[in-house]
Amino acid sequence: MRALILKHDGYEREMPDDPTLTEMDPFVRLGELPVPEPGEGQVRIRVALAAVNPSDEMFIQGLYGQPRIQGNAAGFEGVGEVVASGGGSLADRLVGRRVAFVAAVGVPGTWAEYSIADAALCIPLVDGVRDEDGAAMIVNPLTALAMLDIVQGEGAPSFIVSAGASQLCKLMIGLAAEKGLRPIALVRRDSQIELLEGLGAAHVLNIEGEDFASRLRAVVREEKPRVFLDAVANQLSARVFHVMGRHARWVIYGKLDAELPTLVEPGQLIFMNKHIEGFWLTRWMRDTPMEEKAAAIQTAQSRFATGEWRTDVTAVLSLEEAMSRLPAELATPNGKVFLEP
Ligand SMILES: NC(=O)c1ccc[n+]([C@@H]2O[C@H](COP(=O)([O-])OP(=O)(O)OC[C@H]3O[C@@H](n4cnc5c(N)ncnc54)[C@H](OP(=O)(O)O)[C@@H]3O)[C@@H](O)[C@H]2O)c1
Repeated sequence: MRALILKHDGYEREMPDDPTLTEMDPFVRLGELPVPEPGEGQVRIRVALAAVNPSDEMFIQGLYGQPRIQGNAAGFEGVGEVVASGGGSLADRLVGRRVAFVAAVGVPGTWAEYSIADAALCIPLVDGVRDEDGAAMIVNPLTALAMLDIVQGEGAPSFIVSAGASQLCKLMIGLAAEKGLRPIALVRRDSQIELLEGLGAAHVLNIEGEDFASRLRAVVREEKPRVFLDAVANQLSARVFHVMGRHARWVIYGKLDAELPTLVEPGQLIFMNKHIEGFWLTRWMRDTPMEEKAAAIQTAQSRFATGEWRTDVTAVLSLEEAMSRLPAELATPNGKVFLEP
């Protein structure tokens, strides 16, 4: 089968100055791999569409929280038809079904004609769900739902998100507004302000605007956000956290900027009970009770089926096209790129 195959093992030792993916060739090659065999409790899936998430970009460069396996296909998330079972009643029942899935650890990933998933981590899809939504149904939607629980657990209606026009934040902002929450979104393009206000953001601030610092202070005074969901984690993030009030939580869940943040006033952690923490879906999947995970999966699927959530698509590329065009397509704002093996 054809696949985009990892060229390196393990992790990159040094964080590059800029983690943006500009070339594929140093990290993956287009090649042939044997069709993989599912183990007990696993299924083989013919991949219809595979997502390209920021985590994939970091992973192929050796910058993600999981080691690369040289010679394996890349790609975490996708959608496709289950074509074989490795045994076990759950896996057997999935044969012939269209499923959203995350590839099992240590097997060929989703940037390939076939991939392997644990049957328990496959979501059988209803007809109304498009492949583009199925291929992006797990990583971002479940993270958005889990992090909204963190916000709701704090009891304050307002919260701040960085990278506000990401697919993840767009899902979160719409749902948060429906729940009566008041998201404050940070973006770096004026063109995204109306879009996010339309989805339900209470405020959208351009971090590159000259008056950003004073507007942020005013909005924080007015809304008193308790949680900062941050996918950028640079010095501006540290300044946002500094402006927030007592008991604020800075939840870092991505590192879209290579700049390292320095705390503006560490004393705030001591005297104002402010906290810094991380969120990783992999840990949430491991630690969350099954019923809670099932409820989140159910919510995600039904929101996509009804059209309340929709994945914006910038491009669908073949594996060949990905080798030359993927970095440029990823640089186009406001949508996701998919691979069609
Ligand atoms: N921790 C977890 O478990 C977990 C799970 C899922 C996702 N994530 C993280 O969530 C984030 C969003 O994922 P996604 O798939 O929704 O992303 P996406 O749709 O590709 O969007 C990325 C967004 O980040 C913005 N951005 C990129 N570099 C930036 C920088 N240096 N400063 C400010 N903004 C920047 C882009 O802004 P422009 O529109 O201006 O280009 C874009 O809006 C990623 O960091 C991803 O790794 C984490």
